[in-house]
Amino acid sequence: AASDHVRVVEVGPRDGLQNEKQSIPVATKIELVERLAQTGLKTIEAGSFVSPKWVPQMANSSEILERILHNPPKAPHPITYQFLLPNAKGLDNFFSTYQSHTSSTQQDAYPTPPPSPKSDHGPALNTSSQDPNAMPSSSSGAEAMSKGGSTSNPIELSIFTAATETFTQKNTNCSIAESLQRFEPIMKRAKEQNINVRAYISVALGCPYEGPNVDPHKVAELAVSLLEMGADEISVADTTGMGTAPKTADLLKVLSAAGIENSDLALHFHDTYGMALVNSVVALEHGIRTFDAAVGGLGGCPFSPGATGNVATEDLVHLFHSLGLKTGVDMQRLSEVGEWISKELGRGNESRAGKATLAK
Ligand code: HMG
Ligand code: MG
Repeated sequence: AASDHVRVVEVGPRDGLQNEKQSIPVATKIELVERLAQTGLKTIEAGSFVSPKWVPQMANSSEILERILHNPPKAPHPITYQFLLPNAKGLDNFFSTYQSHTSSTQQDAYPTPPPSPKSDHGPALNTSSQDPNAMPSSSSGAEAMSKGGSTSNPIELSIFTAATETFTQKNTNCSIAESLQRFEPIMKRAKEQNINVRAYISVALGCPYEGPNVDPHKVAELAVSLLEMGADEISVADTTGMGTAPKTADLLKVLSAAGIENSDLALHFHDTYGMALVNSVVALEHGIRTFDAAVGGLGGCPFSPGATGNVATEDLVHLFHSLGLKTGVDMQRLSEVGEWISKELGRGNESRAGKATLAK
C-alpha cells in the first residue's frame, strides 16, 4: 500500500524566480529560502548554475549556495537544497563554491558513497534518505554531515532534458542525445562527491513547439536512461500545463510498464490550464508520493500571455491534507511565505488555498 506521507519539493526559489524580469536582490532570495525552511518543507531547490546570458535572474546562485553552506537556514529538521545545472561549465561553477567551503571546513565531510548509486534509496515511499540528526540547525552543514559517519549530504544537484527535440534545443541549445552526453561527467563527479542528482524531463505532457501529444514512450525511454546513468529521482514535468487527467494516467501507466518504480518519480506540474490539482490526484492514485511546487504559485512570464507558474505549494499541501495525507508542512506558515514573497515581487498571490488560509 502506498504511504500516507507525501514529499513536497519546493522549487519556488529556482523555477518560481527564474522568469522574473525585475532584478531580485540576493538578500530577498536568501530570505525566501530561510522562510521556506521554517515551514516544514524538507527539499528546496534554491538556484541554478545556468548561463547568465540565458537566465540572468539566476546569476547570483553561487551566493545562495555559499550562504546555505556557511550559515544553513534554521529549520526544525534537516533540509536538502537542490541546485539545477545543464552542463560541465555549470558543474565547475557549482564546485568552485561548494569545494572552497568543504575543503576549508572539513576534508572528509562527504565520504565516498557505497558502490551502487541507488543504494541509499530507502523503502519505496521513504521521504528522505537523511539521518534525522544529520544537520541540526545550530551547526554548519559540513560539521553536521560528518556526525555519526552519516553519508547524507544536504546539497543535491538537478539536471534537465526534455521529451522533444525542439524544446531541448530552445532550452539548452543541444539535441536530447547531446544533453544526455553532457550528464555523464556531471553524474560521475557528483557521485564521487556523494551528491545526489535528480533529473527533470520537461514537456512530458505537452510541448509549446511540438504540440500537446508528446509520446509517453519517449518519456519512459529517457527516464530509464537517466536512472541507468545514476539519477536518484526523475521529475516528470508538465512544463506547459497541457497535461490532463487521462494523459497523466496514460503517462504513468507507460512509465510503470517500462519498469520505473513510483519511488523513483516526482511529478512537476505547472498550472497554466488549472489542471495541476486534478492531475496530482491522478498521480496520487497511481502511487506517486513526491510532487514539485512553488510557493504562491510563483513563476510565469509577464511578457508571455497565458504562461503561469508551478502549482502553488499551498494548494498542493491543502489538497494532500484534505485527503488525509501528511506533508509535515505548516499550512499557516507556508501561506505567510507565499503572501510575503508575492508582495516583495509586486505580484498577486496565485495560491487560492494560501489566500483562504490567511483570510480565516
Ligand atoms: P550555449 O550558448 O550553447 O553554451 O548555451 P556554450 O557552451 O556555447 O557557451 C556559451 C557561453 O556561455 C560561454 O561564455 C560559456 O562559458 C557560458 P562566453 O565564452 O560566451 O563568455 N556558459 C555558462 N555560463 C555559466 N553557467 C553555465 C554555462 N554554460 C555555458 N552553466 C546552455 C547552453 C545550456 C549553457 C544554455 O542553453 C543554458 O544555460 N540553458 C539553461 C536554460 C534554463 O535555465 N532554463 C530553465 C531551467 S529548466 C526549467 O525551467 C524546466 C524545469 O522547471 C522542468 C519543467 O517545468 O519543464 C526544470
Ligand atoms: Mg518547471
